[in-house]
Amino acid sequence: LSKSVPSFLQKEVGSFVFFSHWCTGNYSVLYFHLPQVSGSVVSVYNSDYSSVDIQGGIQFSLNYVHKLREFHIFVVQCQNLAAVDTKRNRSDPYVKSYLIPDPANLGKRKTAVKKKTLNPTYNEILRYRVRMEYLMSQVLNLSAWHNDTFGRNSFLGEIELDLSSWDFNDTEWKLLPLKPRVYLQPSDFRGQMRLAIRFLPHISHSKNIPGSGEVHIWVKDCKNLPLIRNPTIDPYVKCFVLPDTSKKSRQKTRVLKRTANPIFNHTMVYDGFRAENLKEACVELTVWDRDRIANHLLGGLRLGMGTGKSYGIQVDWMDSTAEEVALWRRMVESPNEWVEGMLPLRMVTAAKNTWK
Ligand SMILES: *[C@@H]1O[C@H](CO)[C@@H](O)[C@H](O)[C@H]1NC(C)=O
Ligand SMILES: *[C@@H]1O[C@H](CO)[C@@H](O)[C@H](O)[C@H]1NC(C)=O
Ligand SMILES: *[C@@H]1O[C@H](CO)[C@@H](O)[C@H](O)[C@H]1NC(C)=O
Ligand SMILES: *[C@@H]1O[C@H](CO)[C@@H](O)[C@H](O)[C@H]1NC(C)=O
Ligand SMILES: *[C@@H]1O[C@H](CO)[C@@H](O)[C@H](O)[C@H]1NC(C)=O
Ligand SMILES: *[C@@H]1O[C@H](CO)[C@@H](O)[C@H](O)[C@H]1NC(C)=O
Repeated sequence: LSKSVPSFLQKEVGSFVFFSHWCTGNYSVLYFHLPQVSGSVVSVYNSDYSSVDIQGGIQFSLNYVHKLREFHIFVVQCQNLAAVDTKRNRSDPYVKSYLIPDPANLGKRKTAVKKKTLNPTYNEILRYRVRMEYLMSQVLNLSAWHNDTFGRNSFLGEIELDLSSWDFNDTEWKLLPLKPRVYLQPSDFRGQMRLAIRFLPHISHSKNIPGSGEVHIWVKDCKNLPLIRNPTIDPYVKCFVLPDTSKKSRQKTRVLKRTANPIFNHTMVYDGFRAENLKEACVELTVWDRDRIANHLLGGLRLGMGTGKSYGIQVDWMDSTAEEVALWRRMVESPNEWVEGMLPLRMVTAAKNTWK
C-alpha cells in the first residue's frame, strides 16, 4: 500500500543495485584482497582489554530454510585474524552473531573457540528460528573475538549486513573483511533533519481502501551528520510506518555520496490511512551511512503521538520526543497542509519489543 514519488528518485541506484552487484559477481575477486586497516585506525574500547589492529575476514554463507522457518548462518572460517598474543603470534578466536535491533530477544549465537590460530576453521551453523518478514528488518552483526582464559575477551572485528537488501537466494560462500566498530555514544550529536509532512484525508484515487487517505513524508535534507568514517559518509534515509515493519512499509531515498549535509528532496507516500490511525501509527525515519557492504546507523527520529502504546499494546517505539510529537500533532490538526520542521536526529535503536 505504499509508493514513492517522484518515481525516478525511487530507483534504488544506491543500496540495492550496488549490493546485488556484489552478491551476484564473482567473489573470487574479493576473496584474495582483504584490506588491512592501517595502524592508525586502532580500535580502542573500554570493554576490550587489549586493542588490536583489525584485519582479516570471515568466510560464511546465509540461508533461510523455509521448511524449518530458520535462518542459518554457516560460518566457514576466518582468515588472517589479528594476533592478541603478539609474542607467539596467535589468538583463540570465535565468531558471534546478533540480529539488531533485537526486540524479540533472539540473542546471540556463538561458534566454538579455536585455540592458538589466526586462521580458524569452524564449519558451524548458527541458527535463528525467525520469520522471514522479521529478518528483513534486521541487520546481521557478525563479530570475531579472542576468548581469553581470564575472561578478558578482545574484539577482532565485525561485519554488518543489512538483511533488507540481502538476496536470500544467494547461498554462496562470501569472504568479507572485518571492520573496526563504529562507535557512537547514545548521547552523541547526530545532526538534524529538515522535513515536511502532510495528511490528505480523502484521496479519491485511493482505490484499495475506500474512504482512506494518505500520509506524505517529504525528507528535504540533513545537516551536520556525524562523520563516523574517514574522510566522509554516504548517507541515505530509510522509512517505516510502524507498527508495520514488513517490506511493504519500507521506503528509502537514494544514497548520496560523500556528504554530511545531504539534500534528499524525496517524498514518500503511504496510503490506507484514516484519521483514527494517526494516533496509533508512528513514522520512523533513520539515517544510514552506506559503507560498501555494511551500513551504519547514524541516527533517527520517530513521528507519532509518543504515547507508548499502539492499538492498546505497550510498545517501545512509540517514544517520540516533545518536538517530534509537536510536528505530528500539527499535521493531524491541519489536514491537506504541509507542516515543516527541523528536528534533531537521535539514537533510535533502543526499541526493545514488538516490532511485529
Ligand atoms: C571466478 O573467477 C575465478 C578466478 O578468476 C575463475 O576460476 C572462476 O571460473 C570464476 N567463476 C565464475 C563462475 O565465473
Ligand atoms: C603470524 O602468523 C601468520 C600466519 O598464521 C603469518 O602470516 C604472519 O606473518 C605471522 N606474523 C608474524 C609477525 O610473525
Ligand atoms: C555487534 O556485536 C558486537 C558483539 O556483541 C558488539 O560489540 C558491537 O557493538 C555490535 N555492533 C553494532 C553496530 O551493533
Ligand atoms: C573461554 O574462556 C572462558 C574463560 O573466560 C573459559 O571458561 C572457556 O572454557 C573458554 N572457552 C573455550 C571453548 O575454551
Ligand atoms: C528466489 O527464488 C525463488 C524460487 O526459486 C523465486 O520465486 C524468487 O523470486 C527468488 N527471489 C529473488 C530475489 O531472486
Ligand atoms: C525538489 O523536487 C521538486 C520536484 O519533486 C523540485 O520541483 C524542486 O526544485 C526540488 N528542490 C530542490 C531543492 O532540489
